Amino acid sequence: AAPVITIDGPSGSGKGTVARRVAQTLGWHLLDSGALYRLVALASLRAGVDATDEPRLRELAVELPVVFAVRADGSEQIRLGDQDVTLDIRTEECGLRASAVAVLPAVREALLERQRSFQVPPGLVADGRDMGTVVFPAAALKVFLTASAAERANRRYKQLKEKGLGVSLAALSRDIEDRDRRDSERSVAPLRPAADARILDSSDLTINEVSDKILGWARQ
Ligand code: CDP
Repeated sequence: AAPVITIDGPSGSGKGTVARRVAQTLGWHLLDSGALYRLVALASLRAGVDATDEPRLRELAVELPVVFAVRADGSEQIRLGDQDVTLDIRTEECGLRASAVAVLPAVREALLERQRSFQVPPGLVADGRDMGTVVFPAAALKVFLTASAAERANRRYKQLKEKGLGVSLAALSRDIEDRDRRDSERSVAPLRPAADARILDSSDLTINEVSDKILGWARQ
């Protein structure tokens, strides 16, 4: 099987940016598993499906007509059917709804095979919450990326602002706390490092430093 590097961690730990950087450097595929949960969230909001309606949410997850594409200018585009939802899934509303649907075992189960199908040569960098613990337990390198709560809220604030999705830092800190709690306390695939994960605190490191550290481990 193609090699896998998993990068798990809480919101704002930088895992998405780092995973993209590492994948680009190695020339490997990238799986942003959080985007899948956000897509199920968006689909459910648009279809008026309740956040607790497990059978319907499972159906949405199974059917999810997602396309990860690259635009002519090289930027990434995420489509749901024929709609460009690249920005729509990044709102706080979608993030909170994503963490609500992510507690449902039928939803997680429905996304499992889809996530594993990304493991193709020459290799995969997968980022999320349970990449090392559940989805790719045999991954050669597992990283658990953390950062202080304050630093994570700051990063997320900057990121959303750049996308024109501004919200207040105070509201954001609360959202992040809520999601962290729900993600860590859920009974299925809770957010925690795999037993064999390397734990990396990125509070005082730049994206480049974190990426280089992971690339160094990958080459060992
Ligand atoms: O952008 P951020 O890092 O905050 O979150 P994300 O990676 O886009 O994921 C959104 C939500 O989906 C998380 O809060 C989790 O509840 C859920 N998720 C999950 O349960 N398992 C994953 N592998 C990825 C995301």
